[in-house]
Amino acid sequence: MKIFTKLLAILSICIFFTGCGDESKSESEVKVEPLKVGASIAFPPFGFKDDSSRDYQGFDIDLIRAIGRELGRPVQLSSISFDGLVPTIQSKNIDLAISGITITDERKKSLLFSDPYFESGLQIVVRDDNTSINSLEDLKGKRIAVQIGTTSDAQAQQIEDAILTKLDTPVECFEELAKNQVDAVINDRPSNAFMLARGQIANVRMIQELLTYEEYGIAAMPDRAELIQQINDALKKVRDSGEYYRIYAKWFGEQKD
Ligand code: ARG
Repeated sequence: MKIFTKLLAILSICIFFTGCGDESKSESEVKVEPLKVGASIAFPPFGFKDDSSRDYQGFDIDLIRAIGRELGRPVQLSSISFDGLVPTIQSKNIDLAISGITITDERKKSLLFSDPYFESGLQIVVRDDNTSINSLEDLKGKRIAVQIGTTSDAQAQQIEDAILTKLDTPVECFEELAKNQVDAVINDRPSNAFMLARGQIANVRMIQELLTYEEYGIAAMPDRAELIQQINDALKKVRDSGEYYRIYAKWFGEQKD
């Protein structure tokens, strides 16, 4: 009987220590901790707010929520202007940013990116009565609107004698175009195509030839390698399960090859 009691005591001590083991502790903490994600909610169809609903929606929003579900972590979204995303990541107020952010060598100097989740490219848009602008060459000396801090901004800065108007959102850029305050807008093609199809922009012509090939990634601070690894694993599961393609079809209406 005595031996049995002793064994029981040893056994319960063992169970106690296993329960408090460092590994299982951090695992359970990670599970309940919300994933704090920043997104600029003015980039349809990746992140935007509908007039009718106050909720954030879009491809990026659905994707990060699907990733959160894979990781068993609720996603806590905050709306941040595009040029405010990097400083907010650096302040550690958010874990991640998803906002149609193109992976560039320049940005890789201060951010860690997930695997690419979307292929894109920059495109010129002009009013449909403009027949003289048909390529990047034709933009020399022209008035161009771009969203501040974007790859479009960087691209436009290289155009000789161009007069740039830098605004907070692509929607504002298109308003300038409609008012004839600028001759062209440079913006990501999928965003242009979506806004045109939804009638959010009208009387415009999209120059078919893309200026760049770009890939979007989810961004974090360089010291979050473990988190980015988890995001990549979850992204792969979201692709493998077919969820990625459902989200893609919801926003772009076609299956990706
Ligand atoms: N892909 C472009 C870039 O990374 C534009 C992104 C704009 N995103 C946004 N949420 N407004 O520079």
